[in-house]
Amino acid sequence: MSTRQTVLLVGGTGRTGRRVLRQLLERGVGVRAIVRAGGGIPPDIAGDPNLAVIEASLLSLRDEELQQHLRGCDAVISCLGHLVSLKGVFGPPRDLVTRATMRLCRGIDALQPSAPVRFILMSSVSVNRPGGLDTRRGPFERAFLRMLRGAVPPARDNQRAADFLLEEIGSANAFVQWVVVRPDSLVEGAVSEYGLHEGLVNALFAPGSTNMANVAHFMCELVTNPKTWADWKGRLPVITNAEASSSTNP
Ligand SMILES: NC(=O)c1ccc[n+]([C@@H]2O[C@H](COP(=O)([O-])OP(=O)(O)OC[C@H]3O[C@@H](n4cnc5c(N)ncnc54)[C@H](OP(=O)(O)O)[C@@H]3O)[C@@H](O)[C@H]2O)c1
Repeated sequence: MSTRQTVLLVGGTGRTGRRVLRQLLERGVGVRAIVRAGGGIPPDIAGDPNLAVIEASLLSLRDEELQQHLRGCDAVISCLGHLVSLKGVFGPPRDLVTRATMRLCRGIDALQPSAPVRFILMSSVSVNRPGGLDTRRGPFERAFLRMLRGAVPPARDNQRAADFLLEEIGSANAFVQWVVVRPDSLVEGAVSEYGLHEGLVNALFAPGSTNMANVAHFMCELVTNPKTWADWKGRLPVITNAEASSSTNP
């Protein structure tokens, strides 16, 4: 029996998603990538034998089709994000990340896998852990974030997707376990030392930076390194480049 892991990746044509895709393949992980257009996959990896590209509109797939793609997967990674344009930010689907997260988790649930599937969600430091678990932001930052979630759909969407995992999937689900990865400002750059933090480390108006390659590296570690998964499952780690951290990876 093959022990190769299989990941279903959504958002794999994005800035971070492409890096996740490449690093997964470099580790020998099998990837099924649901993409809107196959042309978004870098040509040098498009023919990789460990990659299956599924061209489809994720939110329009029928439940049975989605379950077929999820069947046999050890993990699901979502690097979905609203495109940075007027249409991307304010146009439909305003709840892209939340709807995709809900559909994928419910699809896993319907399959009742024998071992829990790992769901890894790319999120943001603008997302709060509820119940005051994050370092309390100042009154101005809190007011600004409230305004942002009210006025800017992607900010609200990211929060709702994380809330769904925390509140509806929870920590004792037999079929889905999850990690919400919260990078600070995304920047270019190679894999370097990075820090993982239980809560927020930078003020909203004095952000730190996180190499997209480091986000990808951490997501791959969550898939392939059982200790990393055990350390972070059911949590919302903040990931920043090492200059802002004390404990570092890789
Ligand atoms: N920018 C930052 O500094 C920052 C910081 C922290 C967290 N984040 C969060 O990180 C996430 C990913 O960011 P990124 O910059 O790596 O993403 P990105 O480059 O904007 O890529 C977005 C991905 O989502 C897909 N997508 C967009 N709309 C879609 C739709 N309607 N249906 C299906 N797929 C769709 C895109 O597919 P196509 O290629 O087909 O368009 C692409 O694969 C976002 O949620 C963002 O909020 C960003």
